Amino acid sequence: MTSTIAVVGTGYVGLTTGAYLAHLGHVVICADVVPDKVERLSRGEVPILEAGLEELVREGLDGGRLSFVLGAGAAVAGAEFVFLCVPTPQGDDGSADLSYVRQAAIEIGPDLEPECVVINKSTVPVGSTRIVEEALGRDDVFVVSNPEFLREGSAVHDCLHPDRIVIGSDDPAAAMRVAELFERLRAPLVITDPASAETIKYASNAFLATKVSFVNALANVCEAVGADVREVVLGMGHDPRIGFEFLKPGPGWGGSCFPKDTRAMVRIAEDAGYDFGLLKGVITVNEEQYERMADKVERLLGRSLAGCQVAAWGLTFKARTDDLRDSPAIAVIRRLQGRGARVRAYDPAVADDGGRPGLQLGGIDTATDPYAACEGADVLVVLTEWDEFRWLDFDKVAGLMAGTRIVDTRNLLDAAMLRRQGFAYAGVGRD
Ligand code: UDX
Repeated sequence: MTSTIAVVGTGYVGLTTGAYLAHLGHVVICADVVPDKVERLSRGEVPILEAGLEELVREGLDGGRLSFVLGAGAAVAGAEFVFLCVPTPQGDDGSADLSYVRQAAIEIGPDLEPECVVINKSTVPVGSTRIVEEALGRDDVFVVSNPEFLREGSAVHDCLHPDRIVIGSDDPAAAMRVAELFERLRAPLVITDPASAETIKYASNAFLATKVSFVNALANVCEAVGADVREVVLGMGHDPRIGFEFLKPGPGWGGSCFPKDTRAMVRIAEDAGYDFGLLKGVITVNEEQYERMADKVERLLGRSLAGCQVAAWGLTFKARTDDLRDSPAIAVIRRLQGRGARVRAYDPAVADDGGRPGLQLGGIDTATDPYAACEGADVLVVLTEWDEFRWLDFDKVAGLMAGTRIVDTRNLLDAAMLRRQGFAYAGVGRD
């Protein structure tokens, strides 16, 4: 069945949602408030690095099922469904800032069709469904929660092959109407109340962050006792209750969701009278991890970082994205700089336009290729797990560096080979 859908907000979630709903056969109008973005998207130019997204957007545009307009009001007129996909940044006190959600709801309220279903995809605290209902000011429409679990870098794949679809509503008929939109995906459905749906999103990200902090803490223990964390995870992961996913040690977790959602979850619990000490510990372990990576660099160097030249490979918060928000790579670089090091960084997704405004790169010198970053460096630090770093010419790297030391915070490189080539190598959670 084909439905008419409006999507408000064309960030990661909104744009991917709009594009894949059009791919599923629906007629989708996406709205944004930035004129230039709307113009570019209408020409099929996708402003973010996301595998397969540009193709999906072009498919929708060419098929006449996907369009972009300026302003939410223009998009929602005539729509049977409206997806709210606006940002919920972290407020000063750690809680989610709902002002964009509220503002969007106030704006679209008067233009909604009767019986329209407004679907909240933004990550919002428990009770937000009620807030949206109030802001809409309409008693002839429905509000449903439908959290999004897509990962950056595999957003299109995650949307087309979801592990589950969660729908939170007090109205079973409205929930079923939303479920029908995704019928072709044949994914497991969890239809529940709005508060549970909203909690599922936070709890999922908080749990995944807990797994990564656990393995990072475990890596520290492995280093202390002479074990190899990769072997330990292998031995643990065969137990299906544990699994292998999200147990790769690294420089700490980051990105647009984990840091914001873990803090928001702590805050939600606090507001409800519960001290979520476990999750606070998970956040602390993560912050300590950045510092530990700087310690590791200093240890391999055998002296203070003051006046040292560091080559950094990777700036994004993980590979296959150009997103620098809350990137552990940048957090570690800031700590290295804080100890007096000069850093020259290379990242395949940001090297070409490292000067883009607002990208938090202030004070970080960027190189246009990985070798140039290594010139005169006392130590090379691998911070993001870009595959291409594995296949570089390390003899050339050694020739360019002043010292032959590598700290591999992602356990990405072949330690044995590098040692044979004369490098001093330190990974994470292993000898
Ligand atoms: C996350 C959730 O996975 C997704 O379901 C949710 O909807 C949005 O937030 P994303 O922010 O794209 O997705 O990143 P993700 O792949 O989950 O990684 C988060 C961070 O954890 C990254 O910094 C990553 O490098 C780190 N990580 C992940 C590890 O250090 N080790 C792992 O084993 C897995």
